[in-house]
Amino acid sequence: MKIVHSLESLRESLEGAMRVALVPTMGNLHAGHLRLVEQALEHGDLVVVSIFVNPLQFGPNEDYERYPRTLEADCDKLAQVGAHIVFAPPVDVIYPVPQQVHVEPPPLAAELCGAFRPGHFSGVATVVAKLFNLVQPQVALFGKKDYQQLAVIRALVQQLNFPIDIVGVETQRLPDGLALSSRNGYLTEPQRAEAPRLYATLLDIRHQVEAGRRDFAVLAEEAIGLLQQHGWRVDYVSVRCRSDLSPAADGQALVALAAAWLGETRLIDNLEIGSR
Ligand code: PAF
Repeated sequence: MKIVHSLESLRESLEGAMRVALVPTMGNLHAGHLRLVEQALEHGDLVVVSIFVNPLQFGPNEDYERYPRTLEADCDKLAQVGAHIVFAPPVDVIYPVPQQVHVEPPPLAAELCGAFRPGHFSGVATVVAKLFNLVQPQVALFGKKDYQQLAVIRALVQQLNFPIDIVGVETQRLPDGLALSSRNGYLTEPQRAEAPRLYATLLDIRHQVEAGRRDFAVLAEEAIGLLQQHGWRVDYVSVRCRSDLSPAADGQALVALAAAWLGETRLIDNLEIGSR
């Protein structure tokens, strides 16, 4: 496995590849990321994992500074699963001049997480567009845990004509249901014990919809109330159409999404409802 930091070495190591699969990450890798790499190995003959904590997608009061940077441990894990190239550029390689050109994401980026993290998805779309241009993959893989991010990236690729197949990979969970996330490491012991309630709440919404409930807004309000009773500060719980994340409509394939805080830690999760 090669670890490259500059654009020159990236270009050299890409030479001759037939089908490049890119897994963009911000590092601090866990089993969810490694699953992306394993799937990437099935989609490409050269798997590139980018590790870059992207300042553009963090708001002024967010955790950019304290976001865990664990390059050495990440590289050990990536070597074990068989990644071919790690692209870990310093900030000035990705942003050699102040970034004045930004990708404007579709309107869905202003809802759900976007309503609470202004500019976040523009920052994500901008860095992902840069990574696509630098690595020029044929396929790129993203976790479904960031469901809205995946929708934004699918729109980016479709509407800006990137010739890249986007593959969404299922969320990896701990035995108690908590979705794997680099931010789980911020949780205190009691918060960690409470955290699986987010997934349990989504499971309950799914059961209720599958049992016939269609008052989606009321269901979401009930879920918010329950989380609040257990000390969560809830940004949103919402049932949406899977295809475009528009408000849930009967007869559509749905997904329940949530974002909520335990203390200083914001967790997100989602769960598809029904099989379609
Ligand atoms: O999901 C992430 O880790 C990041 O948002 C991404 C896609 C690597 C862009 O910085």
